[in-house]
Amino acid sequence: MDSLILDSNTWLLVLTGAGVSAESGVPTFRGMSGLWEDQHVEAVASPEGFRKDPSRVWRFYSERRKGAAAVHPNPGHEALVAWERHLGDRFLLATQNVDGLHTRAGSQRVVEMHGNLFKTRCSRCERPPFDDATVYPTGTVPECDACGMRLRPHIVWFGEYLEPADIQRIEDFSLRAATSGGRLVFLAAGTSGAVYPAAGIVDQVRKAGGETWLVNLDPAENSSRFEHRVVGKSGEVLPTLAKLA
Ligand code: APR
Repeated sequence: MDSLILDSNTWLLVLTGAGVSAESGVPTFRGMSGLWEDQHVEAVASPEGFRKDPSRVWRFYSERRKGAAAVHPNPGHEALVAWERHLGDRFLLATQNVDGLHTRAGSQRVVEMHGNLFKTRCSRCERPPFDDATVYPTGTVPECDACGMRLRPHIVWFGEYLEPADIQRIEDFSLRAATSGGRLVFLAAGTSGAVYPAAGIVDQVRKAGGETWLVNLDPAENSSRFEHRVVGKSGEVLPTLAKLA
């Protein structure tokens, strides 16, 4: 198996998906026993679904909060913390995961592209998102203290745009790597490559002349666009994949 060299010239951009949390006991979305197997995506993860049945949406996210609060980071999360410690500001972790396990493991340079399960915001007023681990009882739709309108989970739903600042942060990292004359490396782990813009980062990095790695249990929809592909569980592969030089 090729080694991923992380030396003083390396700028590493990492993208993670649900597969990285699978070994912690967090269900993935697609594939066998994935979340989308038993749930209508539109009903629980879209603005329309929230408008139609907000208590159903809160039931879904409250269940996910309960599940994520009961599990712990795994060796895959911990390996990324070690890489960050080694590379410092030449490291950035963009995650599609909303479970907060990267931060709980100790990752600091994290972009939560799809939001965070343990944050809530108002569906109407400008009140900033706030920390909220509440598991709301069935039938409950919490209301905003500021304007009285419905609160919603701070999650990017289907049909919604990502925070422009988050996308900018990822693009700025690649640009800084390029202008520094360093070696840009992109590694994606535990993601099916089904959702954009996350699934398109590999193309941006390739265009910038960067090296690309995929660590995944099954073939991803964008597998062919990666130079190096390692098939396996991220909790087993990531701890031994990199040579820290
Ligand atoms: N190690 C590595 N890869 C794994 C593991 C594991 N232990 N277990 C599963 N996988 C792989 C699967 O083979 C699959 O390709 O992880 C991938 C998970 O894919 P998805 O369930 O589609 O999750 P993800 O790519 O993160 O989904 C992207 O879609 O539903 C939306 O917003 C949601 O952020 C999510 C986005």
